[in-house]
Amino acid sequence: MSTVISRKSIDDVINATAIDEVVGDYIALKKRGSNLLGRCPFHDEKTPSFTVSPAKGIYKCFGCGKAGNAVSFLMEHDSLSFSDAIRKLAAKYRIVLEEDNIVNREEYNESQKKRENLLIALDFASKFFIEQMQTEEGKIAGDSYFRERGFTRQTIEEFQLGYSPQSWTALADTAKKNQYNLEYFEAAGLIKKREDGTYFDLFRHRVIFPIHDLTGKVIAFGGRQLVKDDKSPKYLNSPETDVYHKSNVLYGIYQSKKYIKNLNNCFLVEGYTDVTTLHQAEVKNVVASSGTSLTEGQIKLIKRFTDNVTVLYDGDAAGIKASLRGIDLLLEQGLNVRTVSFPEGEDPDSYCKHLGSTEFQNYLKTQEKDFIIFKAELLMQGVGNDPIRKTEVVKNLLTSISLIPDALKRSAYARECSRLMDTDEKLLLVEINKLRKNKSGIDSQVISQEIQEILHTKTDLPAEEVYSGGDEQEMNLVRLLIQSGHKKFMEDATVADFVFKELRADEALKIANPVFQRVIDELTEMIEQNLSFDENYFINHTDSEIRTLAASFLTEKHELSPTWFDNGIMIKTIRENYVHDLQSLFLFLKKNKIEQLIKSNLEEFAKAETDEEKDFCMHYHIQLIGVRNIISEMLGTTIN
Ligand code: CTP
Ligand code: MN
Repeated sequence: MSTVISRKSIDDVINATAIDEVVGDYIALKKRGSNLLGRCPFHDEKTPSFTVSPAKGIYKCFGCGKAGNAVSFLMEHDSLSFSDAIRKLAAKYRIVLEEDNIVNREEYNESQKKRENLLIALDFASKFFIEQMQTEEGKIAGDSYFRERGFTRQTIEEFQLGYSPQSWTALADTAKKNQYNLEYFEAAGLIKKREDGTYFDLFRHRVIFPIHDLTGKVIAFGGRQLVKDDKSPKYLNSPETDVYHKSNVLYGIYQSKKYIKNLNNCFLVEGYTDVTTLHQAEVKNVVASSGTSLTEGQIKLIKRFTDNVTVLYDGDAAGIKASLRGIDLLLEQGLNVRTVSFPEGEDPDSYCKHLGSTEFQNYLKTQEKDFIIFKAELLMQGVGNDPIRKTEVVKNLLTSISLIPDALKRSAYARECSRLMDTDEKLLLVEINKLRKNKSGIDSQVISQEIQEILHTKTDLPAEEVYSGGDEQEMNLVRLLIQSGHKKFMEDATVADFVFKELRADEALKIANPVFQRVIDELTEMIEQNLSFDENYFINHTDSEIRTLAASFLTEKHELSPTWFDNGIMIKTIRENYVHDLQSLFLFLKKNKIEQLIKSNLEEFAKAETDEEKDFCMHYHIQLIGVRNIISEMLGTTIN
């Protein structure tokens, strides 16, 4: 039974945890000054640069930049959720966890109970299907089907493949005999009720591919027909249930996750058999989207383990063109995408069997192509020198490129594209930027991502330090909210909607000033409840500090001061340029935070005693400067 861990228990666990003991379970650590040093488990390195500070309770790798505390170490290393990492630590330090009071415990228990019963039914069914492989019928039908297709014993076991007999009631009868509640078997899509109240099986005369969640629990099944029969579908799949949300699941993730992580790459295929066959051929970092187009949830799942995806296409042109859109989604999520295609009529499964393991692995290596280049070549087929069609292709490519969050990558692709299409690189970049501008707000998200990465490499800096000193941008933000928060900003969003979206997107943007924070909290709540507000609301507020604040803002002459930003560059009237200005405001906010980080880091550098500490500060400094430059550059282009 999964529970919600109380705040107190979490604190107890964190207090009891010694970072060196946790990391020490995974890698060898040597004493070095007040720190410990070892070889980084997150990237390949010969000389150790993974530093653990027991005093601060944190680790940092100078090589790859990964950093965090004991909890984040476990989350990262073992791909655990936050609560599972806490549970693991609790077990290690023998701390008994207590459950939090959940607001609606009854409802929580109800849905929790249902999920558990579904999982129990699915688990029972999975074992049943595996057992059926040993029966006379199962041996002749199921097992021999797998053997004819070249599945080894080991693959069958690893993927827990099974067989559902021809009988109409085999599973229903067995479950009943074992006194299971058949209701949950029905809810799991395994059986169905007849009019007379008896049940019949839905998976009949099929080989069974159980679908596992990340932790190895069976959450659904795919059943393949043994012989081609157009009257029923080739694959029968479990319906959506409380434990099976198709759009968040990838077939094979449980068996493949550790390889995906270690090899830092994920092969993406379409079918169940592609996954099993590739595993058997020692290509184990592979998952399947199960024939549907990729979803954001599936991409997020991949992103937990790697940023690199290689899409393996079935070898038919129509299928490839149809899946291009799914790949744009991968690009948009910041993944690096490569592709391998196969000869007409082959899929990864069939072609792997055709070539054999070694040759197939070779094929993957030599045929792998960057997605953009692959797409360019694909779209250019038959276009020749027709300028109009060529323009269409270029536009199509640029749209894909414009989705990539990383500015450096975009410009590299623009270069590549200009070479491929024989067009001017600068022109392409201008077009790409236009496309991005159209998707309003994207640029500030990019920068927010970049800043987050930087901020997260240094976790031991208290928030107060980051925000020390009066922060004018913060005040500007609140001023803006009070004065104009209720005003329409974009198509269907107010200024406040936009601001809150930005704030949520970036943890680094926590507001330091408590009065400002109260205003923001209150507004958030009002927006969530769809309550309207205007300037007067804050003028008449019960909180005297907020009242004073609002009054001083609202007695200003202009709606928003033209010298909105401290260096006075912003001289346009705000009204005309909301989108523009708001983005700039956030950039300035972020620039301020970075400046403060640079300052405090330099102070730390001055205080540093060991070479390691100095090294770290230097390394960090370079990163910070890098981000500052990006922001400055963006501000340069924003202010025109
Ligand atoms: N699929 C499905 N329902 C179907 C057909 C396909 O759910 N009627 C899904 C399955 O997840 C399947 C994937 O789409 O694995 C790819 O389909 P296809 O290429 O037709 O099947 P293969 O995986 O190649 O299966 P096999 O090799 O057994 O023919
Ligand atoms: Mn196939």
